[in-house]
Amino acid sequence: MSQTETFSGGSKAFHWVAAVLVLLMLYGGFNLSRETATWHFGFGLIVLTVMVFWLGWRMSKPRPALPPMPRWQEISAKSVHHLLMLCVTLQPIFGLMMVTTSKREPVAFGVIPLKIAQNDTINGIGNFLHGVNGRLLLALVLIHIAAALYHHFVLKDNVLKRMLPFAKG
Ligand code: HEM
Repeated sequence: MSQTETFSGGSKAFHWVAAVLVLLMLYGGFNLSRETATWHFGFGLIVLTVMVFWLGWRMSKPRPALPPMPRWQEISAKSVHHLLMLCVTLQPIFGLMMVTTSKREPVAFGVIPLKIAQNDTINGIGNFLHGVNGRLLLALVLIHIAAALYHHFVLKDNVLKRMLPFAKG
């Protein structure tokens, strides 16, 4: 990882698009209804697409190094970031395990059919993993936000600012 000071426009765009979508998906997921399910499926597939492109982008571009901090904080920060990328990418895949094997006829955005063939075993595993991973994801998001606010308001460093859309690192 090189030592550039601030995140590139592309990294910021991926971060904030994913952040808004994941927050909406968590809220929508825990409050799912017949009417909203089709939007949950559709926007979940958009999250998966964004993550595939973000992962490719992240691996090919330099990112700013973390500011100096105790070793345990560096390990925690990197672990939370990697786990967030992993859990957000896996969550739509677990969702797809459910809708592609459902006994119903789920559709995304009211029009895109998602069912391939009914399979209760895969459906049950997907349901379990989507539920567990959804709760893990919520915990990671809360830790991530708390850490960003702690950097900004307590440590008063540029960790939050360098990820804000229009701020210079
Ligand atoms: C980042 C993307 C996603 C997030 C954060 C997310 C989050 C959630 C959460 C928190 C729940 C509630 C789980 C529970 O109460 O146990 C849920 C339910 C559900 N999600 Fe997602 N989801 C995502 C993507 C998807 C996708 C792509 C699909 C399918 C195409 C999907 C299908 C479902 C289904 C079928 C349920 C209902 C499960 C049930 O009936 O118990 N989700 N989602």
